Amino acid sequence: MQRAELPPWWARTTVYQIYPRSFLDTNGDGIGDLPGIVRKLDYLQDLGVETLWICPFYGSPQQDLGYDVSDYDAVAPEYGTRDDVRRLLDEAHARGMRVVADMVLNHTSIEHPWFRESRSSRTNPKRNFYLWRPGRKPGGKAPPNNWRSLVGPRGWHWDERTQEWYWASFLPFQPDLDYRNPEVQEAMLGVVRRWLAFGFDGLRLDIFHALFKDERFEDNPFSTRLLPTEDDPDGFLQSYRRTLHHPETIAFARTLRRVVDEFQDPPRFMVGEVFGQPSELRRYCEGGDGLHSVFLFKAMRAPFTAAGFRELVLEFEREMPAPLVPTWVFGNHDRSRRGERLGYHPEREKLSVAVQLTARGIPFVYYGEEIGMRDLDLPLATAKDPLARMYRFLPDIVARKLHAAGVLLNRDACRTPMQWSAAPNAGFTAPGATPWLPLHPAAETTNVEAEERDPASILHCYKRLLRLRRTRPALQAGALELYPEHVLPPEVLAYRRTFGDDVATVLLHFDDATRRVRIPGDGHVPLASTYPAPLPIREGEAVLRPYEALILGR
Ligand code: NOJ
Repeated sequence: MQRAELPPWWARTTVYQIYPRSFLDTNGDGIGDLPGIVRKLDYLQDLGVETLWICPFYGSPQQDLGYDVSDYDAVAPEYGTRDDVRRLLDEAHARGMRVVADMVLNHTSIEHPWFRESRSSRTNPKRNFYLWRPGRKPGGKAPPNNWRSLVGPRGWHWDERTQEWYWASFLPFQPDLDYRNPEVQEAMLGVVRRWLAFGFDGLRLDIFHALFKDERFEDNPFSTRLLPTEDDPDGFLQSYRRTLHHPETIAFARTLRRVVDEFQDPPRFMVGEVFGQPSELRRYCEGGDGLHSVFLFKAMRAPFTAAGFRELVLEFEREMPAPLVPTWVFGNHDRSRRGERLGYHPEREKLSVAVQLTARGIPFVYYGEEIGMRDLDLPLATAKDPLARMYRFLPDIVARKLHAAGVLLNRDACRTPMQWSAAPNAGFTAPGATPWLPLHPAAETTNVEAEERDPASILHCYKRLLRLRRTRPALQAGALELYPEHVLPPEVLAYRRTFGDDVATVLLHFDDATRRVRIPGDGHVPLASTYPAPLPIREGEAVLRPYEALILGR
């Protein structure tokens, strides 16, 4: 095999997202913890993922389950201690795995000492850590401008004591920091440095696109859009032009990169949570001196057809051309699980796994995705998710309709405990304990133990394809070339990945028929399938079973 130079680890890796609260509880309090993650490292290594992204475990009143940080240097006691983080990093590294921390730069908790000080008086030295503005109208009782938060209502909140408004891009208890204050930058870059020095291999950056807002606080323009989507954050009748994707945010990506690059061996990695069209998002990475990559959430919405994914692959190749690296995301702790969109059809889910693991880019696997976990329909009124609680005035039927349309109001649905076995509480917590969210009733049959026993399971499909990917530079880092449309039936999407001498051809069959196809070129050898074993190629023809993905080598 020709020795072309492989790109850095992060450009080739596969990421597994862990929501610590829901992964494994080792002390019987019904809440997952860091020792639980350590205990499952062998499972993750055997699954074949290479990098773990751990959702926030910092000191927090947990109003937004950790995305409201009150102490960036502490570990929330329900998750463990700094020693547990140490053990997690050491044990993961000992297995050759990497670990990425979730960094919430945009806002703190309302209970962060900085905010407590900031709101104590207009002259407090921490006042300018946050965005405070006088109101309009006599008495200042109208908010400073028309800006809406990312979740719908106005993002300005009135403070009775100091008679001003503070800005929060997300929920009222998550006040935004003011990144135009150099002290804020210094303080937050300090947080970043300390966790990287502690041993994290990278950062996932929470709502990074919201960091800087319009300096003059001008109104956002009107928009006809009602609800924001993954690829267009405008909504609630407003264009978010003055509150998102500010040029200074994009410039700050470069400042952050310089800090992250102070840490080498291994080089560290950053992936930004930013919403918008890939053409807009590439600006965060362009030039190779900003973020390493950004989430491209569009795959969650693409029509599940060969044409739909062809268009998506083309768009990702066009907008994130090498050396930029796209990402493949089909679910996370904010969105419906992948199966929900695919009708919980295991063969369709496996085909989507094949796209995720064979197209050019970094795959992000959300915990439970590897066994086909389902969303759980839970009432808004008793939700743990503060977003759901904010909308609890809506009848559940409305929430269900929105859910079916791809808008998840109650994120508890996709955060239920990991299903390890058919034991009581699915092996997530002690049998008599009360898990923080109910287990999905499907846990009895959809669980790791059961799928381990079934070679046709989604779990085994992940294992096979991850194993193959680890041995094939073409799949990790190869250039991607789509086969022209007319060479194969319209139900089949096909591409070739090439890295040096290593070539892999991927056939993705988006249909429930069985189909015989002639494969262009010769000498193809089946390497793997989404089915337990690939069928042999005969005289240049492959038989594709319903929704089968077939990966061929030479
Ligand atoms: C995006 C995170 O993914 C979500 O879970 C969180 O609620 C918001 N950012 C606010 O931090």
